[in-house]
Parts: sequence; C-alpha cells; structure tokens
Amino acid sequence: MRYGHFDDERREYVVTRPDTPLPWINYLGSEDYFALVSNTAGGYSFFRDARLRRLIRYRYNNAPLDVGGRFLYVRDDDTGDYWNPGWQPTQRELEDYTCRHGLGYTVIAAARGGIRTETTYLVPPGETLEVWRTRVTNDRPIAARLSLFGAVEFCLWDAQDDATNFQRNLSTGEVRVEDGVVYHLTEYRERRDHFAWFACSVPVAGFDTSREAFLGAYRGWDRPLAVEGGRLSGSIAHGWQPVGALHATLVLEPGESRDVAFVLGYTENPADDKFDPTDSDRPNTARARALIERYREPGQTDEDLAALQATWTDRLAGLQVTTGDPHVDRMVNIWNPYQCMVTFNLSRSASMFESGIGRGMGFRDSNQDLLGFVHMIPERARARILDIAATQLPDGGAYHQYQPLTKRGNHDVGSGFNDDPAWLVLGVAAYLKETGDRAILDVPVPWDNEEGSQTPLHDHLRRCIDFTLGRLGPHGLPLIGRADWNDCLNLNVFSDRPGESFQTAPNRPGGVAESVFIAGLFVLAAREASAIARLRGDETEASRCAAAATAMTGSIEAHGWDGAWYRRAYDHVGNLVGSAENDEGQIFIEPQGMMAMAGVGLGDGRTRTAIASVRERLATPHGIMLQQPAYATYHLELGEISSYPPGYKENAGVFCHTNPWLMIAEAITGNGDGALDYYLRINPSAREAISDVHRCEPYVYAQMIAGRDAPTHGEAKNSWLTGTAAWNMVAISQWILGIRPEHDGLRVEPVLPESWTSFRATRRFRGTTYDIDVRREPGGGTVGGSDDLVSERGPRVEVVVDGRPIEGTRIPLPGSGTPLVRVEVRLA
Ligand code: GLC
Ligand code: GLC
Repeated sequence: MRYGHFDDERREYVVTRPDTPLPWINYLGSEDYFALVSNTAGGYSFFRDARLRRLIRYRYNNAPLDVGGRFLYVRDDDTGDYWNPGWQPTQRELEDYTCRHGLGYTVIAAARGGIRTETTYLVPPGETLEVWRTRVTNDRPIAARLSLFGAVEFCLWDAQDDATNFQRNLSTGEVRVEDGVVYHLTEYRERRDHFAWFACSVPVAGFDTSREAFLGAYRGWDRPLAVEGGRLSGSIAHGWQPVGALHATLVLEPGESRDVAFVLGYTENPADDKFDPTDSDRPNTARARALIERYREPGQTDEDLAALQATWTDRLAGLQVTTGDPHVDRMVNIWNPYQCMVTFNLSRSASMFESGIGRGMGFRDSNQDLLGFVHMIPERARARILDIAATQLPDGGAYHQYQPLTKRGNHDVGSGFNDDPAWLVLGVAAYLKETGDRAILDVPVPWDNEEGSQTPLHDHLRRCIDFTLGRLGPHGLPLIGRADWNDCLNLNVFSDRPGESFQTAPNRPGGVAESVFIAGLFVLAAREASAIARLRGDETEASRCAAAATAMTGSIEAHGWDGAWYRRAYDHVGNLVGSAENDEGQIFIEPQGMMAMAGVGLGDGRTRTAIASVRERLATPHGIMLQQPAYATYHLELGEISSYPPGYKENAGVFCHTNPWLMIAEAITGNGDGALDYYLRINPSAREAISDVHRCEPYVYAQMIAGRDAPTHGEAKNSWLTGTAAWNMVAISQWILGIRPEHDGLRVEPVLPESWTSFRATRRFRGTTYDIDVRREPGGGTVGGSDDLVSERGPRVEVVVDGRPIEGTRIPLPGSGTPLVRVEVRLA
C-alpha cells in the first residue's frame, strides 16, 4: 500500500493523505538555520544546534506522534468554520490534501469548502529564517471573508533545560511586540546576543504572545479559543509559555488569490549593538526589520524557492545517472544525495527518532557522513574534517561527539570507542581522492581544541594509527574499549543496574576484549594512511602504515577466521563472539563486509566463503540482519546488544548501515547481481509499495528494519539520520556503477547485474565533467573490474577516453580547466 508517489521530474515526493503510518518529514535549511517539517506541518526549528539554540518547542513521543509545531489556521469568518491546511492539529476534513516534500522545501496544499490554500515552507539559502507562504484562493462563486492565524510556541533556547527546569523558566520568558512583529527576547537583556521573531507579510489584525490567552484555559492547539472566536487579544506573556500568534484578515472575490507569508527568524547582534538606543533596554531590531521588509514584497518566496532549486540542481550535478531502474535513478540522482546532505548537517541530532537534545555530532558518524557528501560541496567537507580533527585527543583517541555550536568534544554520550580514530583516516582519504587538495594535510589543527597545541593534519592521521597499535590484545587484534562501530557490543561494561546507560557506565578494568571488526577497519585505514603518506613523499610513514596493515592482516588470518566467516570479537576474558562455537550471535555482518573492503581474504577465497555464509544465514527479503541467531537472553558479558528484544536494532535487526558493506563485497568479488539484489532490498523507493509494512518515509533510508526474529519483521525505524545514507551512496555509485575517485584520477569500473546492458552517467570530478557511457556488447560480461576479476570471469573491458583507448580503468587526470571528458566503457 502507498500513501503517495514520487514526482521525479520535480524532484518531489507527493504525500496524498495526511495520516501516513508515521510522520513523514522533510528538512529545511542547510547552513545555519534548520527545521524539521512533517507532512502535517509539524516539527521544530533551531539555529545550528538542536539542543542549545532551539527556536520552537516540540513535544516528542506525543499522542498522536506529531502534533504540530508550525500552527496555521484558516478561518471562514462568515461561518466560523476553521481548519488546518496541514490537517493537524484540528484534523478537520480536507479536500485535495497533498504534501510535496522537495529538496529543502515542503508545499502543503489543501482545500475546504471552496477555499484553497497552498503553503510553501522553506529556509531561503543563506538566511536564518523560515517562511511559510500561503497562497489562498477563493473557488467559491461569492466573496469570502477569511482569517489566517499563524502561531509558534517559543522554546527557551536550551531545549534540554526547557523540557526540565520549569521552576526557573516558567518565570524567564520575555517578549515584545512592535509593528505587528513578535520578538522572543528571553535572556536577551542579560546574557544572549540573539532573539527570535515572528512576523507576517501583511499588516496584522491582532496578536497574542501568551499561550493561555491564545488557546484558552484547558484547551489545546486543536481548539484555540482565539481562533474559534476569530480574535486575538493582544496578550503579552510574562514568563509561562510565550508564543507568537498573528492574525491576518483577507476578503477574496470569486476566483481571487492572495499570498500571506508568516516568517520566523533568528537574529544575532554584536555585543556593542544589542540595544537601540545603546543605553536603553530596547532590543536593536534593525537587522530583523530589514529582513521582514523583504517579505512584504509579493514574489519574494518564489524567488527564494527558485534560488533554492537552482542550488540543488547544481549540487546534484555532481553525479547523475540513467540506468533504466527507477529505484536506482531516483535514489542516486535525488534522494540519496539529499539525505547525505541532511546527515552531514545534523549527524544524529534531530529527527523523529532523535530528540535534538541527546546527541551532537558524532566523531565516527560525521566521518562516515562525509563519504556520501564530499563530491557535492568539498569545501564544507574540508571545514568539517578540520572541526572533527580539532576535537581529537592528544593520544590519538576521540571524543565520541561534539556540540556543533561550541565545536568542543564532550563525553555526554560515552567515551572510549576504540574504532573512532580510524574513521578520521577514511574521511580524510575520501576528501583527498575527491579533491586532490593535499594542502589540507599541512593545515595546523589543535588537539582537544587546546590553543597552541596545533600540529599538521597529517600528524593527526599518524596518531590515529598509533592509537590502535598502542592498544592491541593477546591475539594481536585491537582492544575494543567501550565498543566499536557496534555501539552496543559493550564487552567491558557488565551492567546489571536497571536504567544504567551502557554507553556511559564504567568499563570493568583488566579485560582483554578484542574486536575483529576494528582489525579489518584498521587494515583499511592503515592502507589509506600509507597512500596519503606517499602523496606527501613521506616514505617512512608510508611503509610503517603498510607494514602495520600487513601485520594486522596476519592477526586476522590467524585469529579472526572462524571456518566459514570472520569472527566478531573476543570478550573480556578471551572467549569468542560471533563464532560457530556460540549458541547465539554466531555470525555478525560487520566483519564480513569490512574485510572485503580492506582487501583481507580476497586472495584466499575467504571473502567468497564469508559472503556465501551471509547470504545463507543473515539475508532476508527486507535486508541483511546484523547477526544470527538473535540473543534471546541477556548476556551480561556482551552489553547493550542483548538488551534489545530479538530482531530489533543491533540484536539481529536489519541494521541498514552495514548492508552496503556487503553490496561492496559482492561487487568486489564481481557479483553485480548479488550487489544490486541487496541494494534493492533496503532501497526505500523499492519498498514504497509496501509502505504499510515499512511505515517510514519511502524517499530516505532508515537506520533499521526489524529483523526476522521480530514480530514486526520488515518495519523500518529511525529514518533519516543514519550512516546508511552515505554508505549506500558509496556502494551504488562507486562499486556497482563503479565510478570511483582515486588519488590520481577517476576510475570507472562497473560491476553490473546481468539484466543491465548499459547505463549513462555524468560525474563532476575536480572541475571536469565526465560523460560516461557504459555498454555491454552482446554476450559481453558484467565486470569492468580489476585484472584478477576480469581474468576469472572472462570478459574484456575496453575504456575509451575522448576517442582514444586507455590502459586499465583509471582515467588519467586531464589538463586543468578541461570542461568535459567523454568516457566509453565496453564490456566485451
Ligand atoms: C548508530 C550510531 C553509530 C553506530 C551504529 C551501530 O547508528 O549513530 O555510530 O555505529 O548505531 O551501533
Ligand atoms: C547506537 C545504537 C543504539 C544504541 C545507541 C546508544 O545509536 O544504534 O542501538 O542505543 O547507540 O547510544
């Protein structure tokens, strides 16, 4: 069953009924101002940091789940009937409801009783404000007298404090209203240099700033007294719950349309320019007023939307493909890069599954998010790498997260995840391969943000490698610390206290828990670090890293192989995890994919054996489960993983982040069918037809799909903010389509499914556009791959660049300034 459809032409998903199984959301803003907006106009907004600079209040985990946030009411002033064009919260019946989620904007259209509205929500590029522009049309044969009410409930900036510290903050709220603009000024007089404001593009008939005055005693947002009566009372909030509510009136002749925009903005003032006049306590609103003026101009929102769409056309031009498979094309061309941008911006902070107060930017997560994003806006990837590296600890270790506003690391969500540093190497490697910008390696970067501690970025990479080498266990494998990529494999925690967080509880000392997964990740990272050192001409470091990778490969071969797959770990006392010896959790997906990516086991057939084991034991029609058999009982020695019911999350859910690793492994071993098969199992567009099972948005990946052991097998959760976005982008574009940036050129090495005979792609790479045409000759093979794969599978690959055949599959870099290179790949 479907709840809408894709409109690929307009790059939109069109939701056609408001009661989707879960809120189907979108994000507005991509620089400083961000907003979540659901298909019923719910959600909230913030400046940079979802926790520390929250603009509007939101009640999580509500019933229903999503009860508005951007409140917009239309009232028929002749009859007193009123409704929300986004359906929530009044749920009054609508005719012709559609919600179009586009790239950075959402348009909700609806009609009731002959009054049509179309509301465009967006954050204009470069601005710290959001617009809700409603075009109201009178389809009645007679004139209509209408009111529009726009309202927001202000959050008192720190969303954590706002949700807990009532004794203080029910007394701190302050507002001011001038010229029909509501200014939210809590703490501005004292310690803040910023305020929010809520304005309307037309002169308003009234306002309210006290929530109680607007809603009425004992009423909720579904029945505001002021809307019911058609009149706002001009209330001024002193403490309690300040809101911004504005009333616009309009009389529309038959067939007439009019635009009304509500604008919510955020303004910062320099410390010496906070007040106007300077020695008064009247806030300086000049900057805000200039912006508000702009939205009094009709057409401003259309211009903003056009600018936004142009920005996205340009970003997406980094890679466009035509394969003939709509699920591949629309995900690669539109939705997957879009999701990558959102995960890059927000890490795991704010979604319908992340409260915005729990987590900031993850060290491991942000490095992986780069992988799917770097080709779109390399300069922002560069800045991000430097921010992340600046939080690194002097011993090469990492804070697990940092707050985007302060850019300082903290231990709020735990520490001591021993895989963290290795991901920095992969992030930097991806950036270098994409851009060739070697200068970044010499940029001085502080340690733990300590002024004066700067050393060049390449030194940070060196210490990433040292970090692992300094923490090896009895089998020569890396010690796991609190956990590795799998946050829930807490082999040193032994928690039996109810409610204790596995992620922050103390580790039991003296253990020898080792991670086979980190070993594979380390081999990959050490190889990348070696290649990076070679770029700088540092042969000593290059050989050191290469030797470390070889030694670690030896440890994996000796102690990581279980007979038919790679083991997962050794626990605190040295017992196996992820082995046929275990009763539960015999085989885990993570090391199987990682080893292939690291090149471990390719030569000795182990990769193929491991891949076959995954297919046999872990694959389901809804994707590949994280491990099997699921833990049916709690294992004190394993930690959080066994605290989840079987089939959910890390306990044998389909943890989608890891599935692309297997797609890549399949592609590396030349099996295009296997790779695409896995790709389509979790591809949200391919799952659209089962939206009643999948339940999350069909246009973005979810972190998890319930596994076979779960009663709700196939149901997705935790959509949007997941490493699944970046890794699927990598798997499909770099390994299946095979368009892969390398240090000295773009490689084109597709591994096609049998059913494909050709595809076209354009890829922007270091300023040149590559026009790529891949074709199989009749009877030709499917693998454009490396020499051993080609000889194994027989086919011949021929790459012709601008009419001239080249050796191999890597296209030599053209002279700088070359606008276009034509690449033909023939599989004979
Ligand atoms: C979540 C975390 C990520 C972790 C994964 C597996 O997605 O954000 O860091 O690797 O879970 O536990
Ligand atoms: C990761 C996991 C999640 C776990 C969390 C702990 O995000 O996906 O299952 O609860 O880490 O912080």
